[in-house]
Amino acid sequence: MQYRRLGSTGWEVSAIGFGAWALGADWGAVTDDDAMAALHAAVDSGVNFIDTADVYGDGRSEQLVGRLLRERPDDEIHVATKAGRRLDPHTAAGYTSQKFHRFVDRSLTNLSIDSVPLLQLHCPPSDVYYRPEVFAALDDLKAAGKIRHYGVSVEKVEEALKATGFPGVESIQIIFNAFRHRPSELFFREAAIRDVGIIARVPLASGLLSGRMDRQSAFPPDDHRSYNRDGAAFDVGETFAGVPYEAGLDAVDAIRRLVPEGWTMAQLALRWILMWDEVSTTIPGAKNPQQARDNAIAADLPPIDAETMAHLERLYRDRIGPLVHHRW
Ligand SMILES: NC(=O)c1ccc[n+]([C@@H]2O[C@H](COP(=O)([O-])OP(=O)(O)OC[C@H]3O[C@@H](n4cnc5c(N)ncnc54)[C@H](OP(=O)(O)O)[C@@H]3O)[C@@H](O)[C@H]2O)c1
Repeated sequence: MQYRRLGSTGWEVSAIGFGAWALGADWGAVTDDDAMAALHAAVDSGVNFIDTADVYGDGRSEQLVGRLLRERPDDEIHVATKAGRRLDPHTAAGYTSQKFHRFVDRSLTNLSIDSVPLLQLHCPPSDVYYRPEVFAALDDLKAAGKIRHYGVSVEKVEEALKATGFPGVESIQIIFNAFRHRPSELFFREAAIRDVGIIARVPLASGLLSGRMDRQSAFPPDDHRSYNRDGAAFDVGETFAGVPYEAGLDAVDAIRRLVPEGWTMAQLALRWILMWDEVSTTIPGAKNPQQARDNAIAADLPPIDAETMAHLERLYRDRIGPLVHHRW
């Protein structure tokens, strides 16, 4: 495993982390046994950064991560969770100090810890970026010892740029993958200047970039890949990175011949993300130990050659970029 600095937190995080959304809900059934086995396999492979949220399975994901922490007392594991999405309605006005205290207390119970290592605002409404009092409330939580660091998980590059303007923000989580290039244009540079860590999420475009899906693939009704294809439940950019499914499959077909001998397409997709030194970690979601192990290997693969990088760039420019580049 390769380790990289997560901005000013000073943490050395594994370049391949672990995204624990699917262990909560929204991705079809995952048993507790599979979830725990996937988490342990990741840590056994050198993963030391886990991303979760209070709303994933209404706390189930946090509870499973908490169980991992108890079962691995000798491992240093950096946990990032999120808050904000329990607000109903989800409005900027709800982002108050009082609500944060309540959300964080619940996360601390779920995780069975006494201070959240990294708390992220969970894709807040755009108005939040114009309310310094929200960030002051996070400073207060830090001063009270309830959280150690804070960051923001964002939808759009513009929100990422806005968030990095608040000095207490130490990490930005954003969708960045072979189907989403825009963060690397301006935002990565700005983040580096401000020493803000970058957490690249949805690295496999919800599994599309594993190359295992086709036109016949079916997803269970409780999997967002069936119910959020048009953004009915949350931002459509979170499902297949916002790329229409068939267009994504066509592009994946073109990528097949670029996969180096002995690699999987998922590993190519993950290694592509790590070609950017500004990325601190990327957090593929794994639902079983095999996926967790395969993903971790990507950090030890050699750099992708220039010709393959150029092919992927052209593919994005000609086919995928026109569908997503202007939106996020
Ligand atoms: N708003 C936010 O802050 C936000 C939003 C989205 C995600 N996230 C975070 O980002 C993490 C990752 O994003 P994501 O889970 O949306 O998508 P992802 O990592 O792009 O895709 C995950 C899916 O890809 C498949 N997969 C994983 N490893 C594989 C492998 N080695 N070979 C083949 N298939 C593999 C699995 O699905 P199947 O086996 O079912 O195909 C898995 O559930 C989440 O877990 C969460 O922590 C945060």
